Amino acid sequence: MRLTILGGGGFRVPLVYGALLGDRAEGRVTRVVLHDPDAGRLRAITRVLAEQADGVPDAPQVTATTDLDEALRGADFVFSALRVGGLEGRAHDERIALAEGVLGQETVGAGGIAYGLRTVPVAVDIARRVARLAPDAWVINFTNPAGLVTEAMSRHLGDRVIGICDSPVGLGRRIARVLGVRPEEAWIDYAGLNHLGWVRSVRVAGRDELPRLLADPALLGSFEEGRLFGADWLRSLGAIPNEYLHYYYFTREAVRSARRAERTRGAFLLDQQARFYAGAGDPGVPALELWNRTRAEREATYMAENRETAGAGDREEEDLSGGYEKVALALMRAIARDERTTLILNVRNRGALAPLDAEAVVEVPCRVDAGGAHPVPADPLPDHATGLVCAVKAAEREVLAAAGSGSRAAALKAFALHPLVDSVNVARRLVDGYTAVHPGLSYLT
Ligand code: G6P
Ligand code: MN
Repeated sequence: MRLTILGGGGFRVPLVYGALLGDRAEGRVTRVVLHDPDAGRLRAITRVLAEQADGVPDAPQVTATTDLDEALRGADFVFSALRVGGLEGRAHDERIALAEGVLGQETVGAGGIAYGLRTVPVAVDIARRVARLAPDAWVINFTNPAGLVTEAMSRHLGDRVIGICDSPVGLGRRIARVLGVRPEEAWIDYAGLNHLGWVRSVRVAGRDELPRLLADPALLGSFEEGRLFGADWLRSLGAIPNEYLHYYYFTREAVRSARRAERTRGAFLLDQQARFYAGAGDPGVPALELWNRTRAEREATYMAENRETAGAGDREEEDLSGGYEKVALALMRAIARDERTTLILNVRNRGALAPLDAEAVVEVPCRVDAGGAHPVPADPLPDHATGLVCAVKAAEREVLAAAGSGSRAAALKAFALHPLVDSVNVARRLVDGYTAVHPGLSYLT
């Protein structure tokens, strides 16, 4: 079986390859094709993968190319994990938003809209090429903003594109841990959009264990989201929100601490990653060791500002191992080998979550089998969650409209309608600021 990774020079590719190396089963991936427009990044990552494969019998063969169509032909699965505009783009997204006093996070608020506006046209081009060159392939989208990008691609690939994120999986794993059960034993009733969802109940052996968790301050204080949101607020909500909801419920504090920080997350990573790629390209440097060190630092500092604002302390040891490669592998295996499972994924709604329409990509538990991912019908969200989900989806739809038509007016609407952008004047200045720095937005007229 052949897996093509778009964004194959990306920093998280060794996570995926490491998971593939652990898969010995019949029908596993035997060939990996990395695609990236940047040959230098491909060289660095290929070196890390070669060191990972050292001594592993029958390791999947790895090839790299800068030719997109060549990478797509013959693919059974395509992982799409791009960063349009690079980390430099991410840093611009943050800086321009923060200068206006609004959030520039890569997936939430003004930053997410800016990132979506330059990513959607690229993702649509890829979707069209997949439809033409590898019509039977399944596309697993990691590219952020993952829900929006998956929806854009689904207009060309239907349900053959599935979006994934490690955030709900991590939340489910943490909740299971504090309840003292194995993750497979718990049914996590999670629903919303990507980076905008809530756990409403946790069924273990037919019983909802969430009330027990919400009633216990010690349990709530023992995991990331419990500390991030605080026991009182979680009890008021009667649910556990995805960590990214911190940007919505504590917007002012998040903006203040991002403005106060010496460097934004994007600027920090820009620097850190530049050092990694320079080092890993040097044949004298042990690439895997350097990658491991760089990754440990990246994981430890993830969402540091939010944790600091909430007084949440450091991340738990168990949370540092990521997990998105595990979701991707589980998803691929379920489809390729009909190994039936349930995963929280980004798919077209098809009536699973009211009041969103059938085409809207939502993040909900899905049953997965050889026929793909089938969303499990979910109970309606409470009004406060419906309000946010519908408002954000409306802003996302303006991004899709802008990317389809090239309309600057639609782009302005996307910013102005987002609940975390508090003035149309701010939205106007954001459009001006972003189009001035991002070559990827030159299509907006
Ligand atoms: C989580 C999110 C991803 C996001 C990543 C950012 O894993 O689910 O969507 O890309 O964090 O991490 P970073 O190290 O780039 O800040
Ligand atoms: Mn994510």
